[in-house]
Amino acid sequence: MIEDPMPTLETERLVLRPFRPGDAAEVQRLAGEREIAAGTLTVPHPYPDGAAEEWIATHAANWAERKVLTLAVTTPGDDTLVGAVGLMLTMADRRAELGYWIGIPWWNLGYATEASRAIIDFGFASLGLHRIMAQHMARNPGSGRVMQKLGMQQEGILRQHTLKWGVFEDLVVYAVLAE
Ligand SMILES: CC(C)(COP(=O)(O)OP(=O)(O)OC[C@H]1O[C@@H](n2cnc3c(N)ncnc32)[C@H](O)[C@@H]1OP(=O)(O)O)[C@@H](O)C(=O)NCCC(=O)NCCS
Repeated sequence: MIEDPMPTLETERLVLRPFRPGDAAEVQRLAGEREIAAGTLTVPHPYPDGAAEEWIATHAANWAERKVLTLAVTTPGDDTLVGAVGLMLTMADRRAELGYWIGIPWWNLGYATEASRAIIDFGFASLGLHRIMAQHMARNPGSGRVMQKLGMQQEGILRQHTLKWGVFEDLVVYAVLAE
């Protein structure tokens, strides 16, 4: 276990900070929208009471054990929660998988791209990562667009790789290397 605080990252328009217990109600409200769960493999729908509190409570240990870095995407000044971004770490291979969601009121403002760019830079520069991958369902092209804007390269399509809401979905795999 590495006992250091989770990082806070600042970008031009956003502050990426650790989640706090007080964010739980807003996480449930924003991530509880069907469109958020529809794009992700892990967000439950409907979003159960207490699940956001439980999720936030895992973050410090997951960071200390270098398993996952999860950060709240917020706007500076008013500290409005607009989404989440994270890296699932496999330190033995010095690689990570990027994940993100942005609340519907803030879609198509470039926030997912801006937040992801910051956590990717942190992963390469401060965590010594060598490779960062991301995957999106083929029916979610907006997320693929984010990956392209991040300079990630499409590596392949995992056909009918995941069973989501009763449908076998194709997953499109992207990655970027440290160099
Ligand atoms: C995917 C998601 C994170 C994008 O967040 P965002 O902040 O709106 O993303 P950005 O504004 O940085 O970029 C979105 C890009 O996708 C484009 N886009 C949006 N919908 C699209 C569609 N149906 N087809 C193609 N492109 C689309 C936008 O035009 C924009 O590209 P541009 O800047 O070239 O115009 C957000 O929609 C979301 O949270 N979805 C639900 C959860 C999810 O899917 N998470 C990702 C799991 S892999």
